[in-house]
Amino acid sequence: MAQKSKILIIGGTGYIGKFIVEASAKEGHPTFVLVRESTTKHPEKAKLLENFKSLGATLVHGDIYDHESLVKAIKQVDVVISTVGGPSIADQVLLIAAIKEAGNVKVTFVDS
Ligand SMILES: NC(=O)c1ccc[n+]([C@@H]2O[C@H](COP(=O)([O-])OP(=O)(O)OC[C@H]3O[C@@H](n4cnc5c(N)ncnc54)[C@H](OP(=O)(O)O)[C@@H]3O)[C@@H](O)[C@H]2O)c1
Repeated sequence: MAQKSKILIIGGTGYIGKFIVEASAKEGHPTFVLVRESTTKHPEKAKLLENFKSLGATLVHGDIYDHESLVKAIKQVDVVISTVGGPSIADQVLLIAAIKEAGNVKVTFVDS
């Protein structure tokens, strides 16, 4: 049987992203979630992160403004799904730069 793609979700702690993390993990994809360090201290989001871990997802610390953290996370996977929101939407160009440097993934942007 073909191996399931390894998926990195950026924005996985957001309104849309949490459904994608859950679906990816439940479909049996090795699932990685890029999480900002500060977010782990947020009580509601900490609960969400515990749920992700219980589904088998791997949390990777990083930020779209931290190029090294992005490249390191991207190199571990086959597919990147970005559901970054708010004021950072336009800054997903930084993600494109990191994907180019990592050189190993497909990418999907969820945007309105
Ligand atoms: N909500 C909707 O009904 C809806 C409908 C259609 C399309 N969309 C589109 O879907 C996308 C996501 O929307 P949403 O409502 O899910 O947004 P959201 O709830 O605000 O979630 C945004 C996500 O982006 C993460 N994020 C923000 N800045 C980041 C950074 N510097 N580095 C890493 N992660 C960062 C947030 O992490 P933290 O948890 O750390 O803050 C969070 O996980 C947007 O492009 C939006 O336009 C949304």
